[in-house]
Amino acid sequence: MSELDDVLRCAGVRRTFGALRAVDGVDLAVAPGARHALIGPNGAGKSTLLRLIAGGQRVTSGRIWFDGREVTSDPEVSRARQGIGQTFQRSSLFRTLSVAENVALAVQRTRGRPWLPFPRRPGWAARVDEMLRLVGVEDRAHHRVDTLSYAECRQVEVAVALAAEPRILLLDEPAAGMSAAGTARLLELLRGLSAEITLLFVEHDLDMVFELATEVTVLHLGRVLMSGAPTEVQASEEVQRAYLGTGRRGELFTTVRSMGGDHVTPGT
Ligand SMILES: Nc1ncnc2c1ncn2[C@@H]1O[C@H](COP(=O)(O)OP(=O)(O)O)[C@@H](O)[C@H]1O
Ligand SMILES: [Mg+2]
Repeated sequence: MSELDDVLRCAGVRRTFGALRAVDGVDLAVAPGARHALIGPNGAGKSTLLRLIAGGQRVTSGRIWFDGREVTSDPEVSRARQGIGQTFQRSSLFRTLSVAENVALAVQRTRGRPWLPFPRRPGWAARVDEMLRLVGVEDRAHHRVDTLSYAECRQVEVAVALAAEPRILLLDEPAAGMSAAGTARLLELLRGLSAEITLLFVEHDLDMVFELATEVTVLHLGRVLMSGAPTEVQASEEVQRAYLGTGRRGELFTTVRSMGGDHVTPGT
């Protein structure tokens, strides 16, 4: 496959904060249909890289292409319209609206009528139902978001992101704070997504990474330490050495899950 076929490509992407090189010359190629994981210890630059790709922050230098078209200078909304979707670490849901209303608003935003009070066309309702079924929260359609569990909220956020019909979906630690059961549901949801949607996800739960990923990129101090098939990365002495050397092997190769069941995040 030629590099022109990549859904997403980063070349020499750099982002500094003062003297800190948060992302330090990253080359990244994401193939169509990939489940591409970004891993590395806290502070490696994973979230910053996702923001640079989505357009929430600008690169200091380097270039980014989406679908063969350069998007380096495009604003975030333009990139979203072109098909770069994302879920946010901080919830973007309207907590006093129902699940279906949240997804309906997202569908409406996508279909370009953001000024209408509420979507009323039958086609929209079908689309909302489809999104809810896809992420497995159809039985919660008419519940207010602030009555949902934390895991259910994350599922709804995926539905909201999918409503925008992205070609690539960026997920920043989608399983963070979830119980084992919540993580399993999320994994099932992501597994069930059409291959037409490419995934680029940051995840600390390495069981989830190695169950879902078709490709893994390891970031270390803002740089790509390694990129390859999951088995290659797991076997890599360089990866092991880097993390052993910094005493951070645990963060990379063990599972960290929250204790107890799903919980609701404090109101935001
Ligand atoms: N807005 C910002 N201002 C200053 N420093 C930042 C900002 N965002 C991130 N950083 C720093 O950049 C580095 C990478 O952060 P981040 O991308 O959040 O890493 P990760 O997601 O891998 O944990 C960290 O040292 C972090 O403190
Ligand atoms: Mg992060």
